[in-house]
Amino acid sequence: MAEETKVRTYEPPEEFARDANVDDASIYEEAEQDYEGFWAERAREMHWFREWDRVLDWDPPEAQWFVGGKLNVAYNCLDYQVEQGRGDKTAILWEGDEPGDSRTFTYSELKSEVERFANVLKGLGVEKGDPVAIYLPMIPELPIAMLACARIGAPHSVVFGAFSADSLRDRINDCVAKVLVTADGGPRGGKVTPLKANADEALEDTPSIESVVVAQRSGEDVDMAEGRDRYWNDLMDEADAECPAEEMDSEDILYILYSSGSTGKPKGIVHTTGGYLTQVKATTKWVLDVKEDDVFWCQADIGWVTGHSYLVYGPLSNGATTVQFEGTPSYPGPDRHWDVIERNGVTIYYSAPTVIRAFMKQGTEPIEKHDLSSLRLLGTVGEPINPRAWEWYHENIGKGRCPIVDTWWQTETGGIMISPLPGLTTTKPGSATRPFPGIFVDIYDEDDNPIEGAGKGNLVITKPWPGMLRTIYKDPERFRKTYWERLGDKYFVEDGAERDEDGYYTITGRIDDVMNVSGHRIGTMEVESALVSHKAVVESAVIGRHDEDKGQAIVAYVILEGDREGSEDLIKELKDQVRKAIGPHARPEEIIFTPDLPKTRSGKIMRRVLRGVAEGEDDLGDVSTLADPSVVDDLKEARS
Ligand code: WTA
Repeated sequence: MAEETKVRTYEPPEEFARDANVDDASIYEEAEQDYEGFWAERAREMHWFREWDRVLDWDPPEAQWFVGGKLNVAYNCLDYQVEQGRGDKTAILWEGDEPGDSRTFTYSELKSEVERFANVLKGLGVEKGDPVAIYLPMIPELPIAMLACARIGAPHSVVFGAFSADSLRDRINDCVAKVLVTADGGPRGGKVTPLKANADEALEDTPSIESVVVAQRSGEDVDMAEGRDRYWNDLMDEADAECPAEEMDSEDILYILYSSGSTGKPKGIVHTTGGYLTQVKATTKWVLDVKEDDVFWCQADIGWVTGHSYLVYGPLSNGATTVQFEGTPSYPGPDRHWDVIERNGVTIYYSAPTVIRAFMKQGTEPIEKHDLSSLRLLGTVGEPINPRAWEWYHENIGKGRCPIVDTWWQTETGGIMISPLPGLTTTKPGSATRPFPGIFVDIYDEDDNPIEGAGKGNLVITKPWPGMLRTIYKDPERFRKTYWERLGDKYFVEDGAERDEDGYYTITGRIDDVMNVSGHRIGTMEVESALVSHKAVVESAVIGRHDEDKGQAIVAYVILEGDREGSEDLIKELKDQVRKAIGPHARPEEIIFTPDLPKTRSGKIMRRVLRGVAEGEDDLGDVSTLADPSVVDDLKEARS
């Protein structure tokens, strides 16, 4: 982070520290001495039908947490909250795409909806252990469907609503779901995504699907296949009201969530029940400092892990009020987020660097129109936040009074791993600071030796943690190879990081072939395979170029077949091809036609060179290992 010249630090404001959920620094030491005991204490704050026999069984790379324990995640998020007197408290505060369009559910109401929908699923033949695919926009039916799955022990696989028909098809087929839950269409930013039409395209090639449930949101006409497709409301009307929660084993699967890796095929990340909820609940309480009177807004889409953990399971298992927002930051105006905060009295706002940088660009006028005094804590996740954006966030949104928690974690980790505790930690802009108590991380050099003291290298997690992924769905070998082959019993993160003299960690970005575009993980190979499936393309290489707003922008180098010439039309076709194969968020920003790619003598593409060219650098470093160094000039010319 070149811009960081001065390091200013920020103490937790006194008033905040006084009331914070954690205010005793000795917890770090306690957790270090006995991390199993520490996590067991957190787990005891939840509801268990049966307590565990052992906290942890660790047979690398296989971990089991709270062995023999029985619980239900939906019970913890609903029944247990009602039992504690929160029946009439708002659980979900939903705000639609159009300002003023809102729906709220108390804990009792949410419980009723979930029980009924759980019976709908059962009626469609879903049994404990059967995966259910969910392809919904950001409407309350989405958390309801997830919690209904959790209630009956059916693992859910939520597919982000902006994913294409092809992506949906592959995800359904990988987990062999019998039921798909979708909607007619999803409004967002004043436009409607035709979810049912996309689903219909996917369903042409998903032999396992027997039933489709269609929630009505946008109201447009959709095709309903006789005998297969039914409307959500009709099924709910017919369903019984009561559905007891299944007693799930701590290690039963809660969900599968697909995430990009360094091959073309996304990984089905598997999370289980007891350990996952323990970590997610504890970090929501300690890092996001959620309390009884808070209105907590995690503005991630539920289609990503952040929405799973911190819009649904974390806040609800803590009995909090969680905001679910359907729209975008810029519709109908650039002040929409501030309007949502003001009207709903949001107290905690958990956002992403890419969103903050977009706000920075607009200046402070949209903010000044609104009263943001309800806010008391700010958060960020998804990619490194540059110190300038951090400072801007602190000053303009937090008005200098709200601490910022920069939280580092991954789909694989399930919950927050490195972050300040807002009432305790002195923060430094740009740094995620220290591992959460009971989490152990380190930095290793290229030869896989731990680095002492301050230094820069590869981030490693050295001990198992409760929310860790248990495997890659139906591919334990890929699980072992991706994360454990390199270090045996330590988890190789595939992020670079720097540790300073105070032991603070700053994450520098991915070290594998995964791009981070506006906080979304996209594999270079996924985009490459989409491109080469076009008949004009012989070969392609995709890289993420640095981008001020999005973190990274996708640049694709493409070799065309025979003597075919590149054209504006072809560029559009290729961009659309990627959009169709993956989704709009993966559409390349730039396509560069080139006669050749920079390869080493062993045939490996030197992405460093491609990145240098895309970023307009004159000095591309040492290119002597290239099989044909003259390629570099061709590339520079192709881009100009
Ligand atoms: C990056 C999102 C820097 C990182 C929860 C990680 C971050 C990847 C931060 C996971 C942060 C996430 N600072 N980088 N605070 N948070 N990342 O699976 O590269 O969508 O490996 O999970 O995002 O992305 P994922």
